[in-house]
Amino acid sequence: MMTTADPFNFTGKVALVTGGTRGIGKELTVALAQRGARVYFCGTNEALGADVAGEINRTMAAGQAGVSFLKVDVSSFTACNEMVAEITAESKQIDFLINNAGITRDNLLLRLKESDWDEVMAVNLKGSFNCSKAVVRGMLKNRYGRIIFLSSVVGLMGNSGQVNYAAAKAGIIGMARSLARELASRNINSNVIAPGYIETEMTEAMDPKAQEKIQESIPAGRLGKVGDISNAALFLLSPMADYITGQVIQVDGGLLMA
Ligand SMILES: NC(=O)c1ccc[n+]([C@@H]2O[C@H](COP(=O)([O-])OP(=O)(O)OC[C@H]3O[C@@H](n4cnc5c(N)ncnc54)[C@H](OP(=O)(O)O)[C@@H]3O)[C@@H](O)[C@H]2O)c1
Repeated sequence: MMTTADPFNFTGKVALVTGGTRGIGKELTVALAQRGARVYFCGTNEALGADVAGEINRTMAAGQAGVSFLKVDVSSFTACNEMVAEITAESKQIDFLINNAGITRDNLLLRLKESDWDEVMAVNLKGSFNCSKAVVRGMLKNRYGRIIFLSSVVGLMGNSGQVNYAAAKAGIIGMARSLARELASRNINSNVIAPGYIETEMTEAMDPKAQEKIQESIPAGRLGKVGDISNAALFLLSPMADYITGQVIQVDGGLLMA
């Protein structure tokens, strides 16, 4: 039967986006807030987070729930628990978790320092574990939840100079799929978005020659935009994706076809 309800109206939903101060996370925060969700986002740069929250809230129409910034380092298990407790005390539940916070510390293995490995694992992999563990109890109680993990095509195909990052992003896929198996029967979906190369500060930091080479290797002929990622996320969070769990959605302009 046809329904006229807008599947992308998220009024009444509460979302937590990690790493929402820039790039993909900021776009996700804006996209969800514009569609009615109450959005909490975190990051480690307090001044930037406060500015971004103010900037987004000024664009909200009357009746939209808006956004709040929380200064949280996702690599801290305790801080993630406290963040989730604070959000649930205020908004009762968390419906959507987007594990987006990520960093790179690139170098060839021979030059990679132990700290490069540890920092990338702590933010990308353990951060995703910390936040997922913190929200799942509430989602189980509500018999509803949608979790999205930001991996990367690099986690699927490997990349020279990114042994640490590729390992963390591959680990995220294993975590998301295991969680999908644990939680599917409770109406909690766990999916992965694996972006290719998206125009953000993370890719701006790359050598221009490497950027040019990458662009040539993308069948779509361009780097992705943050909106390309938020569109995929909105679909996965909408009722249109209720029967999709444990999947890795590549948003990469055809870069990797496996
Ligand atoms: N851009 C790409 O081409 C691309 C491709 C594949 C995958 N991805 C993945 O997509 C996600 C977003 O990437 P992006 O390009 O938007 O990155 P970005 O522009 O560098 O932004 C990263 C975000 O993560 C936050 N963050 C970093 N460390 C954190 C920590 N310890 N605790 C909490 N927040 C932290 C940053 O905020 P603070 O600085 O305030 O901490 C920032 O908001 C990442 O997981 C990345 O690996 C990106």
